[in-house]
Amino acid sequence: MTNCNLSTRSVSRHKPTHLVADQDALMRIFIQPESDAARLTLLKYMEQILFGLHEFLTRHVGVTQAKISLDSLKELSERFTSSTIGKHPEKMLADVITDLIEDIAPHAVNVASPYFVGHMTSALPFFMIHLKTIVAALNQNVIKLETSKVVSVIEKQVLAKIHRLIFQENEAFYQEHVQNPQTSLGCFIEDGTLANITALWVARNSLLTVRDRFEGIEKEGLSAAYQAHGIERLVVLVSRLGHYSLKKAGGVLGIGNRNVIAVEVDEKNRIDMNCLRQKIVELRDGSEKTRIMAIVGIAGTTETGSVDPLGQLAAICAEYRIHFHVDAAWGGPTLMSEKYRHLLAGIEQADSVTIDGHKQFYMPMTCGMVYFKDPRILDAIEYHAGYVNRPGSVDLGRKSLSGSREASSLILDSTLKIMGTQGYALLIEHGIEIARQFAAEIQGRPLFEMITQPELNILTYRLFPPANISLGGFRFEQGTPEESLNTNCQLNAITRKVQQLQREAGKSFVSRTTLRVHQYPGQDIVVFRCVIMNPMTTIDVLREILDEQEEIYNQIINGQVDL
Ligand SMILES: Cc1ncc(COP(=O)(O)O)c(C=O)c1O
Repeated sequence: MTNCNLSTRSVSRHKPTHLVADQDALMRIFIQPESDAARLTLLKYMEQILFGLHEFLTRHVGVTQAKISLDSLKELSERFTSSTIGKHPEKMLADVITDLIEDIAPHAVNVASPYFVGHMTSALPFFMIHLKTIVAALNQNVIKLETSKVVSVIEKQVLAKIHRLIFQENEAFYQEHVQNPQTSLGCFIEDGTLANITALWVARNSLLTVRDRFEGIEKEGLSAAYQAHGIERLVVLVSRLGHYSLKKAGGVLGIGNRNVIAVEVDEKNRIDMNCLRQKIVELRDGSEKTRIMAIVGIAGTTETGSVDPLGQLAAICAEYRIHFHVDAAWGGPTLMSEKYRHLLAGIEQADSVTIDGHKQFYMPMTCGMVYFKDPRILDAIEYHAGYVNRPGSVDLGRKSLSGSREASSLILDSTLKIMGTQGYALLIEHGIEIARQFAAEIQGRPLFEMITQPELNILTYRLFPPANISLGGFRFEQGTPEESLNTNCQLNAITRKVQQLQREAGKSFVSRTTLRVHQYPGQDIVVFRCVIMNPMTTIDVLREILDEQEEIYNQIINGQVDL
């Protein structure tokens, strides 16, 4: 552990000489640096991280330096096979940092590149690194007041700010609840998956409550709950574009993931309200043996970015007294844009809402959040322990699926101060407007077919050669159902190949998924999926991406590349 010796050193790699873990070295890594020399060294390490990584991020504009082909992944994995831990230190801190910057980072994915438009992960405002460092340095554990103090108070305030953005209750409501230890407007959690699980956990417990001698589902379990409430099955309804975390919730909560029922979507990829109504009637069938635990509306589906008709869903949930959850993991921050917040109209009527910090709040991994309209509903999942989270305490861990967790709220709170809603609005509006321009560009190119139009900032498309083109004698015709099936099969192979080769070339990254869309009923269509959230992604960047896809396509058509 002499590697942590706080003396001034060069940040180039050292030849390790006699590194030992002894008591002396141990103390040196825990005490705060007191000398000027030690401070300089710490600064130098931070500088090395910030600038070393910055250089990497600008030098490697593409997905990775090396191909992410299976071969290179194999090579990489062969380098990481040892499973032993050395008894004595192997390296000094400066060398570990150099290794990470020079050997590891080039094989990671440069999600900050403007040409990386494939997933919901993107460039971060530079100050996120500073804020994350403060969170690590303070190392508060927000599970309880005794390890977080003011951070718990700040967290309650941030929860109120985002709650207000969603539900827009009046000032008196927020004054009553912002610092009220007995009520909760929501909670921070690790990610969107756990946020969705929390929302459905609350919905389940709020439904299967105490009655007669039954003491509630959380205590007695599903079987006793079904018996006490005279039911045989709980279900959740969501469009078939729902995120798979909802299926996980079905498994974790014991209702069975096949009871998370997919409802058909309309031609705009929003939940089909007629199908939903029909499904509700079918499930209720007069016997009440099946109960609908929640209906989930999506504000920004993972694959197409579509937004369900939240107002109509709220009305149906009110009519049937069903918990209305909105999965706004992706689209939630659209509420900060005055220009586009109407796209999420109806969200304010939800019982619960998921929003991810690490998506369109541009926070570093990972931060999920779930909000509740009723400040007392989280009581349905309250837990206590002798040493922590005692009844009546201010400990935020009392009503949370997580145990220990970091102070992500400090990052969000600081960022809201730095950006304001207007700063976020600029980002959101850029994404939506560039996505629209990109859609127009795709439609203007004869080689491409738009599959799903962007409602927010996600769109899908594919290559579609004109009828006079043939590939090995095959013509891309759609006349009869059989021709359509064969053509789509070929097109799927082409899209898959182009996406793979573009990814491997390492300059740009567009993701790929398989959709069922109204244009081709009953068929699986492979599409390029483009997520535009990086403010540096301009229409010119996107044109280059299309040019590259056309180039690869031409190589396939000309027989230079096998399908
Ligand atoms: C709509 C939606 N909900 C939930 C999630 C899950 O979020 P996480 O990956 O943070 O668990 C995602 C992730 O992409 C999503 O798009």
